[in-house]
Amino acid sequence: MCGIVGYVGPRDCSDVLVSALTRLEYRGYDSAGIAVFENGKIEVAKTKGRLSDLSEKMEKEGKPKGHAGIGHTRWATHGQPSYVNSHPHSGKRVTIVHNGIIENYIELKEYLTKKGKTFLSDTDTEVVAQLLDLKYDGDPLDTIHTVIRMLKGSFALGIVFADYPDTVFAVRRESPLIVGVGDNESFIASDVPAILNYTKKYYLMNHDEIVKLTHDGVEFFDSHMLPITKELQEADWDMDAAEKGGYPHFMIKEIHEQPEAIKRTVLPRIRDNMPDLSECGITLENIKDFKNIHIVACGTAMHAGMVGKYVIEGLARVPVNVDIASEFRYRNPLVGEGDLVIIISQSGETADSKAAMSLAKEYGAKTLAIVNAKGSSIAREADMLIYTHAGPEIAVASTKAYMVQIAVMYLFAFQLALAKGRITEDECKSLLTSLMEVPDKVEETLEKVMDDCQYAGSSLVNADSLLYIGRGLDYALSMEGSLKLKEISYIHSESYAAGELKHGTISLITEEMPVIAVATQNALFEKTLSNVKEVRSRGAYVILVCDEECHIGSDVADQIIRVPKIREELMPMLAIVPLQLIAYYTSLHRGNDIDKPRNLAKSVTVE
Ligand code: M6R
Repeated sequence: MCGIVGYVGPRDCSDVLVSALTRLEYRGYDSAGIAVFENGKIEVAKTKGRLSDLSEKMEKEGKPKGHAGIGHTRWATHGQPSYVNSHPHSGKRVTIVHNGIIENYIELKEYLTKKGKTFLSDTDTEVVAQLLDLKYDGDPLDTIHTVIRMLKGSFALGIVFADYPDTVFAVRRESPLIVGVGDNESFIASDVPAILNYTKKYYLMNHDEIVKLTHDGVEFFDSHMLPITKELQEADWDMDAAEKGGYPHFMIKEIHEQPEAIKRTVLPRIRDNMPDLSECGITLENIKDFKNIHIVACGTAMHAGMVGKYVIEGLARVPVNVDIASEFRYRNPLVGEGDLVIIISQSGETADSKAAMSLAKEYGAKTLAIVNAKGSSIAREADMLIYTHAGPEIAVASTKAYMVQIAVMYLFAFQLALAKGRITEDECKSLLTSLMEVPDKVEETLEKVMDDCQYAGSSLVNADSLLYIGRGLDYALSMEGSLKLKEISYIHSESYAAGELKHGTISLITEEMPVIAVATQNALFEKTLSNVKEVRSRGAYVILVCDEECHIGSDVADQIIRVPKIREELMPMLAIVPLQLIAYYTSLHRGNDIDKPRNLAKSVTVE
């Protein structure tokens, strides 16, 4: 949570910091601030609210003018969103911005209070600022090195010392941090999109490494303070990928980017019409002996895992257990040698998923990460790694990342089924041929269902609560549809296995409770249709999502949204599109901030 940036170079530092922070606002948006060296002195501007509020404030009151500084956009953890709790935070000679959580901040605060330090805010960050101030011995590197050894928890810190004008220091442990380099300028940032306006070249920071940015360039130091050289990375995203490109919201843009994202993710992994995951460290030989698979993730990524479970179990006949990462890590899971633990994460920085992966390794399982963010912690620490190539996903509500996570689930399931001898090469080729048709079919789906989904959104706009129902893969999909709706429309919704309704939940059905039923699986179609009849006869307004070939009368539901047909194992990749769009349009009709829903942040790097 929270985004940090820093800049040293010839441009107007305040402008660069605000522009870079705009690309990180998805990480938190309840307050914002910057600190810039102006004529050798650190000047701070900050405010409760969004970056636009900070810009407005600086327009009225003047912005700090200089060429080096740090900035922050916040998702509150310690202390409510307010001016005093906004970053940057300062001691007498040190000013910092912070992403992460200092777990031992209470004992450090007591220690500092005894030493005569006083505090203005409720934050853990101010404790670090005061600690740096207390330990400052005239040598910033030495001071940072001493202080980080006293900290427990996660942090990416941007630090400026009053005695060292036009110099920015940064250090990380657990929280993400990159260092960008351009012509005579350098940057720090929590994520790559922040720097794409200026450069595509960046370095990844390892735990406890320190970087020093000056007008002469960047210097890196390892955890023993020894100078080190690092490998330069190049971003394969361009600025367009991080802009709205004419769409009103990132979410709708990202929904439209799904066909391309699938192609980028799937096509390079196909050779001679067969899945080839060897560049990810996966071969028929090294996966054929796994007896149990655990898929561990959070939120949308966990829902992608649910689809994976149905597909892997169906094709490869290997038992798959899907776990919420925050549960898995604390329940002493039955995992061990011979098991495969798959961690799915868009950001690759989700605290619970990271901890779950470490635990799985500790228990002796092999780990496979399915991650979108290049060089993220989860990507770096897994035994095997499949990158999803969704490109930057900026909207807090995940859409294209989910789509490519599912695509990878299919690729992996095909490969595993082949390794286990459950499908023949010909069957595998036929499955892959269908998978390659998906991008065009998603394109077609988008064209076909757009108006229907706008209409559905307008009929749901005043609902207080609704249910999603489905069976099998459609149930897995309903979970994601329901999450999408609640996170951006703020309408309560739940997903139920349709057959489970009559065991209690059907008592909730009234005219006030709309139901979205997903029925794309032939063998289960009639069963789900019976459930549709049951809820309709009790007054529910029903929206049915099915394929365009299913034979039903138009009076079966109040609205029927038909998606193109593809082989049924792959239907989730088409049927998810109307569910995403229904959530989008419902939220739009309710006038919500679609890309930045309340109380949320894109990357959950704290527990
Ligand atoms: O970055 P991750 O994929 O690990 O994030 C997991 C969840 O926080 C994330 O999917 C969240 O549920 C989304 N906001 C849903 O749209």
